[in-house]
Amino acid sequence: MSDNNNTSFEARRALEAHRDKIKPRHLRELFAQDASRVSTLSLELPGLLLDYSRQRVTDETLTLLTRLAEECDLRGWIERMFAGAEINNTERRSALHTLLRQQAGAPLNDGLRERFDAVTAMRQRIRTFANAVRGGEWRGVGGEAITDVINIGIGGSHLGPQMATAALASPTDAGPRVHFLANVDPALSADMLADLDPATTLVIVVSKTFTTQETLANARTVRQWWLEATGESDALSRHFVAVTANPDKAAEFGIPGDNIFEFWDWVGGRYSMWSAVGLAIALGVGPERFEALLAGAHRMDRHFAETPLERNLPVVLGLLEVWNHDFLDFATRAVIPYRDSLRFLPAYLQQLEMESNGKRVQRDGSPVAWQTQPVVWGNVGTNGQHAFFQMLHQGTQIVPLDFIVAFGDDTGNRRQQDMLVANCLAQAQALAFGRTQDETRKMLDDSPDADRLAPHQTFPGNRPSSVLALDRLDAETLGMLVALYEHKVFVTSCIWGINPFDQMGVELGKTLTGRILKGMAGEGVGEPATDALIERYKRINSMGY
Ligand code: F6P
Repeated sequence: MSDNNNTSFEARRALEAHRDKIKPRHLRELFAQDASRVSTLSLELPGLLLDYSRQRVTDETLTLLTRLAEECDLRGWIERMFAGAEINNTERRSALHTLLRQQAGAPLNDGLRERFDAVTAMRQRIRTFANAVRGGEWRGVGGEAITDVINIGIGGSHLGPQMATAALASPTDAGPRVHFLANVDPALSADMLADLDPATTLVIVVSKTFTTQETLANARTVRQWWLEATGESDALSRHFVAVTANPDKAAEFGIPGDNIFEFWDWVGGRYSMWSAVGLAIALGVGPERFEALLAGAHRMDRHFAETPLERNLPVVLGLLEVWNHDFLDFATRAVIPYRDSLRFLPAYLQQLEMESNGKRVQRDGSPVAWQTQPVVWGNVGTNGQHAFFQMLHQGTQIVPLDFIVAFGDDTGNRRQQDMLVANCLAQAQALAFGRTQDETRKMLDDSPDADRLAPHQTFPGNRPSSVLALDRLDAETLGMLVALYEHKVFVTSCIWGINPFDQMGVELGKTLTGRILKGMAGEGVGEPATDALIERYKRINSMGY
């Protein structure tokens, strides 16, 4: 296995030449010239449609991008990932998040059977535990049922469980309320704990390494709150569980072995919500829906592993990213879900994509000769329309968008669901086709101010977007959607030649935080800019804040 993507640049050169032809063309023109765009530039799996007809591409673009993917041996990389090869080469590990949602009877590499048995056993444990807590058989120290769960974790040990729990929550849920404590900001834990009863609260400490400073600080604070409130140090085991790949450290913290749910070093933190890291999901929305989430992700896995590159959803989504970012030079991408319960999806994708592919060297350590990960950002529609969409429509930077919308109305309020969906479609249309200055002038015809206002009311259009339309937002479809993005990240990593499964860029900040904490207690750190701020921080707090 080669350590970088070995591209010969031939496919890139062909794409650059093609880009020079496509760049001056407007989406209006591309649609006018090819009436079949809507059907040829869309892909569908049962329950999920990807419409990329409003991207600034033609069939030829996709053919050339697919050639680039082939040149980078994308097929080979996909096979190696599913087979459990150590594709996380810096850490010498496999990346087997797909095994976490493997379904019994589906094709599986023989070498992975033992690991799959461990996954199956863990799934059973999650189901049993979640049922016991939700059914009231697992009781707190005073014999009361659990009403609230706190998930203490950060990054991959927080964003996935939080996103999925919010996405799948329903007003008829019978389970406990689930709270998420990630930030080390002391105000957050104070606010949260003020509203909770220790006798009916279950705490899950989630940390792959069990060394993450923020998580351990929050866990200590919550443990202290619990012990002070109950005075019951022997009964901690009724209220604290851990999810980790480092059980010794969890035991050191005081979590009894029976309360430790393990996962494995071949699961990356940001790819881990399918493991016991998803315990909060199973507790919040029920183990059946947690398992449906896994089944949906598995459907996307099969599609990714088995479908030719040009009809493969994650591949096409990844190729569009490479096109927009590397060839059309768009520096950021916005993710706009038109479903309030998907409000945490942009933050989840930010970690998934930016922590995976925000890198500047290839697998072999040599610098990349192209752009890698764009900035990912976003917020829910329609809220964003009344905040930052002005810039998207008329600003000087072009921002490609992923619109995510669920068509099926599960509220019974069809009037507002129509409005929600109409807004999404309107934004995609307005961004793509705009309104020319002539059209604007005509619209303002009778106005004496027509000439003055026309430039301000003109929309350039030609701003690309994809629409991901889900038939309905249920657990299975959410699983498909998240796996789609995971694999899309893998596709772009293969084209950029980088290892998406480590995150060494977060280490320096962590090390310096440790030094600065020591410096705060002593004579500073010997770096003038930091020391000046430490001085000021200490001065302000010595004044009685
Ligand atoms: O600092 C980044 C990171 O390592 C993420 O990759 C990870 O998801 C997060 O911290 C939390 O790590 P852990 O699960 O080990 O506490």
